[in-house]
Amino acid sequence: MKEIIRLKNVVKKYNEVEVVHLSKLHLYQGEIYGLLGLNGAGKTTTMKMILSLIQPTAGKIFVLGRELSDQSKEYLNKIGSVIEEPSYYPNLTAYENLAIFQKILNFDKKNIIETLNLVGLNTASNQKKLVKNYSLGMKQRLALAFALVKKPEILILDEPTNGLDPQGIQEIRELIVQLAKKEGLTVLVSSHILSEIEQMADRVGIIHHGKMLYEGKIEDIQTNRWIEIRGDFSNRESLAELVTRENIEIYKHTSTTLQIENIENDRITSLLKLLVHNNILFYEVVRKRESLENIFLSLTRGDI
Ligand SMILES: Nc1ncnc2c1ncn2[C@@H]1O[C@H](COP(=O)(O)OP(=O)(O)OP(=O)(O)O)[C@@H](O)[C@H]1O
Ligand SMILES: [Mg+2]
Repeated sequence: MKEIIRLKNVVKKYNEVEVVHLSKLHLYQGEIYGLLGLNGAGKTTTMKMILSLIQPTAGKIFVLGRELSDQSKEYLNKIGSVIEEPSYYPNLTAYENLAIFQKILNFDKKNIIETLNLVGLNTASNQKKLVKNYSLGMKQRLALAFALVKKPEILILDEPTNGLDPQGIQEIRELIVQLAKKEGLTVLVSSHILSEIEQMADRVGIIHHGKMLYEGKIEDIQTNRWIEIRGDFSNRESLAELVTRENIEIYKHTSTTLQIENIENDRITSLLKLLVHNNILFYEVVRKRESLENIFLSLTRGDI
């Protein structure tokens, strides 16, 4: 897999205070990488360093195989980004705004309509609308259009769904997936909303107080898995006897729920047979795993 961005021991200090100290970060071609972290974790600072908007205090950043300090700013032509709200002319339409941008950067003029189609701003009702009359969701789409119109290879998006309603969040998420999977872009996207990243990212980097706690696939994070059985477990004695006999680890036990840790599928079958045999009734059996929120809390507390 081709490496698109790599960070190695990157430190950023403000007034002698370290706000970022990332031992690593690897972004591969064609993937959506979710940079996850709470407020103040260092997501925006990290993205700004990759974009040379600020300089690292120490460490190395490689983009497309070359170290940033070695190369001119030309690599930025290959990156589209939404870090802060772009400055646009409120009294012009999206097309007119992008046309001004096109004159400055001199990319192919046909990109404008293609991009507006892609982000859904070229509909009949939107074509004539001035940007000052845009909703928040439309402004986010316009920001994406600014990032995409020069046809970059890499997209860096800092919390692109911030402030959007659930429908807007879903639309932007689908657009990001489409850009990566159909248009072949490599995407670095930050968020503090874990469930949102889970639904689109191929891999994640979880950062906390500027440090990388975990990098990889969400499903590879080692966490608790258990079986939850729902039924009538009010007869504790017969259940206790069964559990001792079968050497089963009970994680949680109420009169209606039984949670059993680390159990293989074949043992579940024999356990259920035993329950039936002993007249302990149940109506639901589900394999569960820790929610992403809990994984994140455990990671940031240092439990995992
Ligand atoms: N120019 C600056 N001067 C001093 N401290 C700064 C500066 N920029 C950022 N910081 C500090 O660096 C830390 C990381 O900030 P950053 O904006 O990267 O976090 P973030 O993960 O993007 O948070 P959020 O989710 O709130 O956007 C914070 O403690 C912030 O106060
Ligand atoms: Mg931020």
